[in-house]
Amino acid sequence: MRSAEFLDCHVLVIGSGGAGVRAAIEASGYGETILVSKTIAGKGGCTTMAEGGYNAVLREQDSCEVHFEDTMKGGAYLNDPALVRLLVDEAPERMGDLLRWGAVFDVTDCCEVAQRPFGGQRFPRTCYAGDRTGHEMMLTLMDRLAATGTEVLQEVTIVHLFKDENTVAGALGIDRNGELLAIRADSTVLATGGGTRIYDISTNSSSGTGDGYALGFRAGAELVDMEQVQFHPTGAVYPYDARGRLVTEAVRGEGGILKNALNERFMIKYDPERMELSTRDVVARSIATEIMEGRGTPHGGVYLDVTHLPRSQIESRLPVMLEQFLKFGVDIRDDPMEVAPTAHHIMGGLRISTEGQTTVPGLYACGEVAGGVHGANRLGGNALADTQVFGKRAGESAGKAKKRVKRIHREEIEAQEKRLSVFYGGEVLPTTVARSLQIAMWEGAGIFRTAKDLEKTEGVINHLSSLSLKATGKSNPAECCIVQNMLTTASLVVRGALLRKESRGAHVRRDVTQAWDAQGSPYGHTCQSLQGSNIKTGVKV
Ligand code: FUM
Repeated sequence: MRSAEFLDCHVLVIGSGGAGVRAAIEASGYGETILVSKTIAGKGGCTTMAEGGYNAVLREQDSCEVHFEDTMKGGAYLNDPALVRLLVDEAPERMGDLLRWGAVFDVTDCCEVAQRPFGGQRFPRTCYAGDRTGHEMMLTLMDRLAATGTEVLQEVTIVHLFKDENTVAGALGIDRNGELLAIRADSTVLATGGGTRIYDISTNSSSGTGDGYALGFRAGAELVDMEQVQFHPTGAVYPYDARGRLVTEAVRGEGGILKNALNERFMIKYDPERMELSTRDVVARSIATEIMEGRGTPHGGVYLDVTHLPRSQIESRLPVMLEQFLKFGVDIRDDPMEVAPTAHHIMGGLRISTEGQTTVPGLYACGEVAGGVHGANRLGGNALADTQVFGKRAGESAGKAKKRVKRIHREEIEAQEKRLSVFYGGEVLPTTVARSLQIAMWEGAGIFRTAKDLEKTEGVINHLSSLSLKATGKSNPAECCIVQNMLTTASLVVRGALLRKESRGAHVRRDVTQAWDAQGSPYGHTCQSLQGSNIKTGVKV
């Protein structure tokens, strides 16, 4: 491995989804900005795959207060209220930015931005571009980014955050040829998205490996509520290669209904008031229960049916769903889809201030990698809004940092070069370890949890972490680092799940009986951070 090439900038943004690109657009107004993408900027990550929509209060009949209450209630009151307040207050302005920059959202007959109902919301406030909303947003954001002069590094995997004293001073990356890049920065923004690829069945693209949680954790940042993993109620169940692929909540927003194999509209048992538009935690548990109790479909899911809707509505509002299922051999205009829960989003993450500052100076976080906004269960449509509100905030705060006061220490680069070279003498392929991890997480840290299962899963993670990962070529050390990140993320999820001895939101402990509801819970945030070589854990009130 050759010695590292050096780059220098004012703000380094790691991650090229909606939050990262929005942060870079803002930061570039303050000085030279570098955006690093593990994939191809704008094409990888979850934003571009987000189908359903963006929540914003745009009508007089709606209000930010109601959006705030819906978000807190949906999040089982574990959300940080100050962050939620900003989300709901600023989502409309950030939507305005997107429209000004050329995003084309669906409109009503009166040419106002159209909004559809999504789960857990008392007003239809989810703005959309058919069922490819995130894709439209990314096209717009990438155009805007191109006008800012931000340098974009494609296919570079960040494997380490540099520290100068106690502050983050940039990052070390590996490019597609295996060459090292040491990037000094006055401030660093983590916008690496989520990590549900630690599960066997997930909506995330292959880049959702939890890199930001692991990088932040190793740099000493505090993470909150990592046990709170959202299982999206409706993922595809077949064909095998498409298992877990997102079947957007917009299907239910447009009027789709859920039925079990006995043709029963089962949501009436679980949430008769909100039915299919209950919150995701409730719908996912209801579907999982129907399947576990033997009322599942031949492929192990439940039916999601839109055949009662006008064909033109399906064609115009759900074109991606229509096309996707036609490829699976199902015409959703005539036949129901089969769906089951799939790991979708991690609500926990790096603790941030309202300015996107983590607990480590010089390090900011925004989007899914940050915790606190969505509490114990995210409302569908709040994630895209989150990327824009907190992407802008983090980019702006990072941009205001003092210039040229930090440096990268040679010894730290050498230590990393040594860490990476060890992989060439390793024994186990990273893909083998990742696969075992995904199965163990799905079996032991899924929708329903017990201490016994979680402890067993923790044992598997510890064993997998003790194996020496093997790099087979010069670009493979990055893959080994990514699998280490998956293991770290999984251990954060499982440790958090053991710490939270209650059922709340998406986290259900079957082995705990409790006498309180979410609002009366004695538990606050679960917290984890690395101090020296010790892991500090706690539950804050
Ligand atoms: O169902 C969906 O379209 C996903 C939206 C979200 O996670 O916000």
